[in-house]
Amino acid sequence: MEKKRTQFSSKIGFILAAAGSAVGLGNIWRFPYLAAKYGGGTFLFTYVILALTVGFALLVSETALGRKTGNNPIKAYKILGAKKLKIGGWLNSIIPMLIVPYYCVVGGWVCKYLFEYLRGSSQILTQDTYFSNFIANPISPAFWLVVFAVLTFIVVIKGVEKGIEKVSKILMPILVVIAIFISIYGLMTPGAIEGLKYYIIPDFSKFSIMTVIAAMGQMFYSLSIGMGILFTYGSYMKKVVDMEKAISQVEIMDTLIAFLAGLMIIPAVFAFSGKDSLNAGASLMFITMPKVFNSLQLGGFIGGVFFLLVLFAALTSAISLMECSVATLMEQFHISRKKAALAMIIEMLALGIPISLGYGVLGWIQPLGMTLLDFFDFVTNSCMMPISALCTALLII
Ligand code: PFF
Repeated sequence: MEKKRTQFSSKIGFILAAAGSAVGLGNIWRFPYLAAKYGGGTFLFTYVILALTVGFALLVSETALGRKTGNNPIKAYKILGAKKLKIGGWLNSIIPMLIVPYYCVVGGWVCKYLFEYLRGSSQILTQDTYFSNFIANPISPAFWLVVFAVLTFIVVIKGVEKGIEKVSKILMPILVVIAIFISIYGLMTPGAIEGLKYYIIPDFSKFSIMTVIAAMGQMFYSLSIGMGILFTYGSYMKKVVDMEKAISQVEIMDTLIAFLAGLMIIPAVFAFSGKDSLNAGASLMFITMPKVFNSLQLGGFIGGVFFLLVLFAALTSAISLMECSVATLMEQFHISRKKAALAMIIEMLALGIPISLGYGVLGWIQPLGMTLLDFFDFVTNSCMMPISALCTALLII
């Protein structure tokens, strides 16, 4: 089966697919709320240093391992004879399977907001309690999760190149342009400059070990490291492609978009909601952006376009998460693409539905005192990914 692996037709094919995987909710939703929470400029500074050093080295390592072995992480570890590190191969394969269900939950939130913009009821989204009421609803978050998960499933079932390359080629530049526009507008709003200073000037009195842990988890998440993604994409990459150059372009793009998302959201938090909202966590983007759009002429339209682009960015990342899980299942269990995709969608719904209801009817389930979404986020980002990245680093030396 390995011989039939898809190949990217060109270097740009790899860049677009890897960037499509990297740029997603991690950049637009997760990075700004972590930066807001963990000291603004201090977090930004720590993140950039980590991404340029550890992040780059790991990106190159994973892609190279995938390209060299032409295989999924489990087999790649086996081929390289790393018996003691076998767990690394398994972790790389299991992590995306644990992330994709909760990724689809947040993707579902984006679908819901887009739907409200499309039907012209964006006004209600500016109410402070709208988001918390929505995620506490007993049905709505699960419904939207299913919508997003099924969309992802449909694209995956159609195959790698068709699905991923084409969509991201057109939409990524539009997302950048609109993010720049919204950032400039936000920065011209009274009160925003204080937020800008908070975001870009490091204040090392705010530095703590938590800053490093959060920035490191975000780096893995945002660059799609430690999850078998780049093993899989590396294995699709032709040997003639200049890998390091391609990867540095992906990394620069990913970091710039995260920076832009922070620039769009954090000063706006100061201008529209007040500093107290900095700790809003997972809800930050959803409570801040509708207020920005509401104050804009044509805000209903711009808000709709914004959530549509976020949806596509989220979709290309979810596709890559599901795609690499499907590839692993096919190769490990010798099953067809259809069967593997079916197994994945069942798993995504079985885990995703309880997670989506974890702010309402299932709010009583609090492993380690966290909501289900935070728990899955914590276990994958802060526990499993560092171990899997360490295994990859050890495999290389
Ligand atoms: N990197 C993606 C993002 O920033 O949204 C999320 C992601 C995609 C994480 C693929 C992990 C992954 F394997």
